[in-house]
Amino acid sequence: MAVRSATINVMVKAAQKAARGLVRDFGEVEQLQVSQKGPGDFVSTADMQAERTIKAELKRARPEFGLLMEEGHGEPGTDARHRWIVDPLDGTLNFLHGLPHFAISIGLERDGEMIAGVILDPIKDELFWAERGAGAYMNDRRLRVSARRDLGQALIGTGTPNLGRTDHAAYLAMFGAVAAQTAGIRRFGAAALDLAYVAAGRYDGYFEVGLSSWDIAAGIILVREAGGYVSEIAGGHHMLQSGSILAGNDHLHLPLGSLLRGATQAKRAAV
Ligand code: IPD
Ligand code: CA
Ligand code: CA
Repeated sequence: MAVRSATINVMVKAAQKAARGLVRDFGEVEQLQVSQKGPGDFVSTADMQAERTIKAELKRARPEFGLLMEEGHGEPGTDARHRWIVDPLDGTLNFLHGLPHFAISIGLERDGEMIAGVILDPIKDELFWAERGAGAYMNDRRLRVSARRDLGQALIGTGTPNLGRTDHAAYLAMFGAVAAQTAGIRRFGAAALDLAYVAAGRYDGYFEVGLSSWDIAAGIILVREAGGYVSEIAGGHHMLQSGSILAGNDHLHLPLGSLLRGATQAKRAAV
């Protein structure tokens, strides 16, 4: 039986409380698909409400910690070392379209390093959590990244740039290189869960660019505690700042990185 620390319990409680509202709202969203107005405003309200719920819970338990929250309810804390990094609803587009694949993501940073993470998928009832030095878990089961060594057998998660982004060509070069060398690619639409799936050994690797810190904060510690590797695609370790991420098991992180870097270099040479 996995023993959760007081910190993890605080994070889980906040996520579960917000999840109750999101699940209720998700039921409503499914009905709203066919309405004239669509579910857009309704979803933003649900997202905001989830963030408020999480903030209230985290502040009650650790009033001195800072908060970085996607929907703008963040604030600095009196404790300069600790900061919560929160995405109240990761996979908004899925939620909006009635696709049951979204999560709440809460990470805890100390002195710039991720030390704890909780990612809750309330539809599948999967609670992913990790704490530095204590391992990564799904519900009560210990997680370990996959053991696959061969890129040709690997299943890779990714996220694709959408409307408003300017990096489609560079992204497609990376996608093409990975598609040509691996068993398959998936784009499920929630970066936090993509990382949790690497930690759980479901994906052998995952890459994406253009992310925000709240998309990946909790997932980074999950992958590391499950024995995997996380870096920027270029190899550095400023993922929270750059939004570039490459996660993989201990065998495939390196070859995947070379493949992705090779693809972007070739692209630059061609243009
Ligand atoms: C998005 C999801 C998606 C990723 C996007 C993110 P949101 O977060 O994580 O998978 O590709 O870049 O912005 O907007 O649903 O919280
Ligand atoms: Ca997100
Ligand atoms: Ca979000």
